[in-house]
Amino acid sequence: MKAIFSLLTMLLALPAHADRLPLPADTPPAYRAECGSCHLAYPPVLLGAYDWRQLMDKLDSHFGSDAAVNPEIGEKLTAFLVANAGNANRTGAAGNPPRISQTTHFLKEHRKIPARFWTDTRVRSAANCEACHTNAASGRFSEHDIAIAELRR
Ligand code: HEC
Ligand code: HEC
Repeated sequence: MKAIFSLLTMLLALPAHADRLPLPADTPPAYRAECGSCHLAYPPVLLGAYDWRQLMDKLDSHFGSDAAVNPEIGEKLTAFLVANAGNANRTGAAGNPPRISQTTHFLKEHRKIPARFWTDTRVRSAANCEACHTNAASGRFSEHDIAIAELRR
């Protein structure tokens, strides 16, 4: 019984299909302001806590950009990201520097997409979630809700 219960808890915590990834209700406004100006304010659950810490430790050299924030805000954002991080066993390795778009989980979810789409002029980068997921900003990543006609189901 106990084993079945923990299995159930695990399944509930790890939905196989997660197309709804809204930002948590208690997301600090600074998250959208500081981390949503150059790209999508990514759902924290898509990276593990360790990877978020690595990323937040090096904001001054962030993928060729300076994304540094003042230390007080940095601490708040790190605490928020870590508290809402995904289970690293589920997201899988994210590379260094960590990328959502390099995690095992992301690559698996996107395995059916032909490689040419990642560099298509409408997309340019796998990090550019909104190029394909029209409603990514409201946390909706459904396979039916895709901007690129050839990829829509
Ligand atoms: C000044 C612009 C800028 C700001 C501000 C910024 N980023 Fe980024 N971020 C980038 C660029 C550029 C990339 C690389 C995009 C690409 O490869 O297409 C990136 C990539 C990322 C990635 C990896 C995306 C992937 O491929 O999965 C994560 C995660 C990320 N940023 C988180 C954050 C967080 C958290 C903050 C706020 C503390 C933040 N970013 C603020 C410019 C910025
Ligand atoms: C080139 C277009 C494209 C880009 C860019 C892209 N995706 Fe996707 N994504 C898709 C497609 C198409 C699917 C559906 C794949 C399938 O069903 O085989 C999908 C599926 C997903 C799913 C699973 C949805 C479900 O129904 O379970 C998630 C979550 C997701 N993407 C998140 C992201 C995030 C986060 C980013 C940015 C870091 C991103 N995607 C970038 C095209 C894209």
